[in-house]
Amino acid sequence: MNDNLHQLRCFGCGERISGAEARPDFRCAQCGDLFEVEYPGWSQRRGPDRPNPGALKWLWRERRCSSEMLDQSGVWRFRELLPILDSFGNVVTLREGNTPLYLLTRSAKALGIDQLFAKHQGMNPSGSFKDTGMTAAISVAKERGFEWVACASTGNTSAAVSAYAARAGMRSLVLIPEGKIAWGKLSQAMDYGAVTCQLKTDFDGCVRVLTEIVREAPIYLLNSVNPYRLEGQKTPAFEIAEAFDWIVPDHLIVPGGNLANSSALGKGFRELHELGLVARQPRISVIQAEGANPLVRSIARNRGEALEPVEAHTRATAIRIGNPASWRKAARVIKDTGGWCLDVTETEIAIAKAELGAEGLGCEPASAVTLAGLKKLRAQGKVASGETVVLVLTGHTLKDADYTIDFHRGTLLNEQELAGHEAEIEGLRRDAVAVDATPAAVLAAMKERAG
Ligand code: F0G
Repeated sequence: MNDNLHQLRCFGCGERISGAEARPDFRCAQCGDLFEVEYPGWSQRRGPDRPNPGALKWLWRERRCSSEMLDQSGVWRFRELLPILDSFGNVVTLREGNTPLYLLTRSAKALGIDQLFAKHQGMNPSGSFKDTGMTAAISVAKERGFEWVACASTGNTSAAVSAYAARAGMRSLVLIPEGKIAWGKLSQAMDYGAVTCQLKTDFDGCVRVLTEIVREAPIYLLNSVNPYRLEGQKTPAFEIAEAFDWIVPDHLIVPGGNLANSSALGKGFRELHELGLVARQPRISVIQAEGANPLVRSIARNRGEALEPVEAHTRATAIRIGNPASWRKAARVIKDTGGWCLDVTETEIAIAKAELGAEGLGCEPASAVTLAGLKKLRAQGKVASGETVVLVLTGHTLKDADYTIDFHRGTLLNEQELAGHEAEIEGLRRDAVAVDATPAAVLAAMKERAG
């Protein structure tokens, strides 16, 4: 059976090629820009390849009760909207997706918003949102007969690449910036058997080296320049729409690093809208760390027409990226949906992360930029109290336990960063205490901290 209905369209010059014609670096041979997957059959109003909205909604719901491997994946459950494989028999899955959507009651109250949710993509098999994209792209790699796959990463992509490669029986190569990724992520790449190279450079330097490698060796590139990654990463948009009974929320807030996730979610909602599954698209806003904010600068300076790379610095190592690959796509999503792009400080990130933790929803520092960004948007009057807002939490809290421990021990932020926030931070900090091994001492410690 041939399920494959896709072609690739250059985001820059519009050039169309077949999937098999893509270059190893996934850049357009004409203009150097990135490709996007498109499905020509969908543009014919009544063509046989155009999905039927009512039937799809019913089918996708039915699949939630199925024990079939493909149906149990929150990505492949929606396979009619990502027909990228010749055969779905090539799918490599770890049962990714189907992540929880939590109501954030305390943060909502504090912000004066009625409906605030967190879509926790950190609840994926390797602990980050990357899994939804990885199942898609690695399945393509398998179908095309690759033995080796590779990525440059700030940590989560490398964890996902190595996990899925191991499942598929492939070898993986990961390039990471030495000393700049969280331990949890490094441990995953080792455990899943990747060839893990720590390079004396930053993420952007790792990307440069890997781009040269894939041009010379038969290695399949799994960075998000690979357009199939975005096909998997668009499916949380379907899950969110389904969770709201196909009446999409008003506003989605996403962290921005290499800017693929915001691009993918934007594509997901756009396709739902174009196919008539939802009546409108949510506003999509992208939040960056202040020290790694090239898109914020680009939109402020030239409305996102050009991007000047920056040297990135932030403790949210996942988004420590100065030259994001998918910036044009993300800028388009923000513009088309009426969203905003702003940055938040290290202090704001740390506070927001602790607040999410206090609601029982830990996350990575990079994910916490969403709540920090929402606070700013609310203060600027850009989010009304009656709006339904969804924060996309991208990584599991255990990925970067050092950050959390440093925060609660009071060693994370420097004096300058603390200034003016001491009381707020004191109220959030919960250090572990050394206590005598007697019931009386433990009860006394409890009493002391009961307030
Ligand atoms: N949040 C987390 C936890 C991430 O790991 C990343 C990116 C992002 C947000 C930003 O997403 O790049 O699509 O804008 N991590 C990368 C990596 C790049 O290599 O793991 P983006």
